[in-house]
Amino acid sequence: MTREEAEQLDAADPLAFARERFILPENLIYLDGNSLGALPRAVPAMLADTAERQWGDDLIGSWNKHGWIDWPTRVAAKLSPIVGAQTHELLIADSTSVCLFKLLGAAAHARPQRKTILTQQRNFPTDLYVAQGLAEMMGLQLKAVPADEVIGAIDADTAAVTLVHVDYRSASIHDMRAVNAAAHAEGALTVWDLSHSAGAIAIDLDGTACDLAVGCGYKYLNGGPGAPAFLFVADRLQNDLQSPLQGWMGHADPFAFEDDYRPARAINRFLTGTPSILGLAALEAGLDTFADVSMRDVEAKARILSQIFIDEVEMRCGAEVRLESPRDPRERASHVVFAHADAYAVMQALIDRNVIGDFRAPTLMRFGFAPLYNTHAQVVAAAEILADILIARSWDQPRFKDRAKVT
Ligand SMILES: Cc1ncc(COP(=O)(O)O)c(C=O)c1O
Repeated sequence: MTREEAEQLDAADPLAFARERFILPENLIYLDGNSLGALPRAVPAMLADTAERQWGDDLIGSWNKHGWIDWPTRVAAKLSPIVGAQTHELLIADSTSVCLFKLLGAAAHARPQRKTILTQQRNFPTDLYVAQGLAEMMGLQLKAVPADEVIGAIDADTAAVTLVHVDYRSASIHDMRAVNAAAHAEGALTVWDLSHSAGAIAIDLDGTACDLAVGCGYKYLNGGPGAPAFLFVADRLQNDLQSPLQGWMGHADPFAFEDDYRPARAINRFLTGTPSILGLAALEAGLDTFADVSMRDVEAKARILSQIFIDEVEMRCGAEVRLESPRDPRERASHVVFAHADAYAVMQALIDRNVIGDFRAPTLMRFGFAPLYNTHAQVVAAAEILADILIARSWDQPRFKDRAKVT
């Protein structure tokens, strides 16, 4: 594809209007929105207003005057069309790891006769570590099987099946509907991590009968570094589940200051401590970048961008790299992974040329395509630059091999 052809696709892009909602440095090709979303244009003013006018002028009174106390549910409601859930099934709180601990703990506790938490091997580390810790504490076994064996491994001893919806390495997608159906047929609950799918592809939590889900606020949702996470609890389960991290914000009447815990009704029982208001302010602006955006358009563009990248890279320098993402676009979400023996150095050389992706040990280069702000022309240009670096071996320099703390 020529740059001109790519520019024609950009001119016809139904999501082109959303690019203006972000501040991105000129001449930078940012393909890492799957790790940290770009800065929404509205964030600086939103943070300044929350800090200066609300916190500065109205101080503690802001919990009532500006309704801070309800922001975890008010802001979460904006996620509803993005993940296909009812507004009252969503909450913004804590980090993804903590939300996962709460929901997985609640799920396992709700199936006391069952002794197995089922997951997949090579899952995202935090998901494995949370499950390992919980299993140990609750006297359960954590069973991790290859991704394509999960459905077959669900049995009458399975309390909960926990999976990352879109694999953080390969971008392959689990079939939510099929996993939920298989789990329910055996009486187990499902706990999904949507970190690499929320905001990248269309999700229908209610339509596919999901039980519980969590996800990152700072990736495709553009909530900023360390943004609070979100959690989903299906309406039908809310009053039966118990959070293992009980705190005063999840109490039925936090300001009664009672000695004994009484869970709030519905989703609020999954709150624990005081909401992070500045984090919520930025995340709200992040979620607003999805206003008037169809998730079908987002998913379609994600597939086109990733396919163009695969085709262009393989055509120009296919012998140098190996595709580690599914070749069938229907099995892939919004990022693409190529393997190269010196992936770290190649990625550093790319970053030096203003193309930002990331490296995942030991040999993977990961490129995330954020449909709200990445263009077709950028994708073609990134493939050209990658080919240039690989063919000229310009990555093979000591300055590109010095590992930073964060990769
Ligand atoms: C699948 C998945 N889950 C969770 C996380 C991070 O969790 P936390 O926000 O608690 O750091 C990531 C981060 O990249 C992730 O990829």
